Amino acid sequence: MKLSSCALLLLLALVGAAVAAAEKERANKSAAAGGLLWATGKDENDLLTAIDSDDPSAVEDDASDEFAGGFSSLDSMLQWAIGHSDPVKLKEKASDIQKLSAEELIKRQIEIKELMEKLKMPSDAELMKIAITDLNNSSISLEDRQRALHELLILVEPIDNANVSELDKLGGLVAVIRELHNTKPEIRTTSAWILGKASQNNALVQNQILAYGALPRLMKMVYSASSEEAVKALYAISALIRNNDNGQQLFYSENGNIMLQDLITNSSVDIRLQKKALFLVADLADFQIENSYDSKLPFLNDRLFLKSVVDLTSSDDLELQEKALLAIRSLLRLSSSEASDFKDFCGLEYALERMREQLDKLTTQEEHGDYARDMESLRTEVHNIFHQKFEQVPT
Ligand SMILES: *[C@@H]1O[C@H](CO)[C@@H](O)[C@H](O)[C@H]1NC(C)=O
Ligand SMILES: *[C@@H]1O[C@H](CO)[C@@H](O)[C@H](O)[C@H]1NC(C)=O
Ligand SMILES: *[C@@H]1O[C@H](CO)[C@@H](O)[C@H](O)[C@H]1NC(C)=O
Ligand SMILES: *[C@@H]1O[C@H](CO)[C@@H](O)[C@H](O)[C@H]1NC(C)=O
Ligand SMILES: *[C@@H]1O[C@H](CO)[C@@H](O)[C@H](O)[C@H]1NC(C)=O
Repeated sequence: MKLSSCALLLLLALVGAAVAAAEKERANKSAAAGGLLWATGKDENDLLTAIDSDDPSAVEDDASDEFAGGFSSLDSMLQWAIGHSDPVKLKEKASDIQKLSAEELIKRQIEIKELMEKLKMPSDAELMKIAITDLNNSSISLEDRQRALHELLILVEPIDNANVSELDKLGGLVAVIRELHNTKPEIRTTSAWILGKASQNNALVQNQILAYGALPRLMKMVYSASSEEAVKALYAISALIRNNDNGQQLFYSENGNIMLQDLITNSSVDIRLQKKALFLVADLADFQIENSYDSKLPFLNDRLFLKSVVDLTSSDDLELQEKALLAIRSLLRLSSSEASDFKDFCGLEYALERMREQLDKLTTQEEHGDYARDMESLRTEVHNIFHQKFEQVPT
């Protein structure tokens, strides 16, 4: 399909308007213009350079290639055009465009929208295929690889069972898992992020990723020197084994308990990782409780493990304290955990009392008042569960 030069003019008009808006946006430093750049690794030709060139036939070929390369929507096409254009030239064009009246601009926008609708827009599945084809290509640049991964990240978000098999059939999961071994931490980070997103609340994807053996690799990544990588890897692990018995057993057999303990006890670890680790502990305990499993994950009632969780209630970070409390609440509810371990070995009674005193002081402070009151009601709840558990113990 070829674009007429008229279409290109319209495109240019629209791009110009978008750029003018984007310039303002950028001044605000918030949303940067180039969020999504739908482009393949194959063709890096600058659209505007092409438009400015003297050879109209070259323009048409390049442009049609780009459209075959695919844009999911008019909006993403504009994003692409902005991302791929020389800002100086764009600005010149934009000032021409600004001479048009608002009505003229709107008319042009409608025209181009109709034009774009006439051109066949690639489906998400087609876009997914383009991204995977790029990932499969060992000679694309690092930048293109990262871009292909970002495209996939967005495409897997609304994934459901109807198209998840498509992702796998195209070799997408294998390609992304392969990138967990890339030498660049940023590439590994995005890849872990995709796996986490894709497996969130989707047992089918979870099982596929587990079957490809990605879990041990992700667990290694949690120890990365890059805390971004470690955080995304732990996110992916949590998503992968959530409500998934098979995944949790695999996690345990890969010494997931030691990994969690390492994170929880090491005060030099990024605090985001500690929070995520505590969240995972609570999540794992809740799953055991819901399914009436008894000691399927025995580390959850190991007193050394419990003590490391209780010890985090003395953290300086209130939010970490809260996550620790939530984990303790779930761990206390496990039928297999011992009330006496919490009391004698972990010193839970003392930890809760110390927390009460601290929260008491905080509630009088304006800035922390509400948060402290919520924490105190959670603390009271944990205290009550603890005492009930203790009273239930036959002596
Ligand atoms: C900048 O962005 C913020 C948040 O999106 C918005 O509230 C504010 O009005 C913007 N400022 C300007 C100058 O556009
Ligand atoms: C997945 O399917 C949904 C509808 O079932 C669709 O909206 C979405 O675009 C599809 N995504 C991909 C990547 O195929
Ligand atoms: C990617 O490569 C795998 C083999 O490594 C292949 O099975 C798959 O079809 C390829 N996917 C695409 C979209 O080219
Ligand atoms: C792989 O990428 C290179 C560099 O971008 C490109 O020249 C080549 O055509 C691509 N190969 C395939 C099979 O797409
Ligand atoms: C604790 O974490 C830091 C930072 O991640 C790491 O360098 C160190 O080796 C860890 N210490 C232990 C004992 O695991």
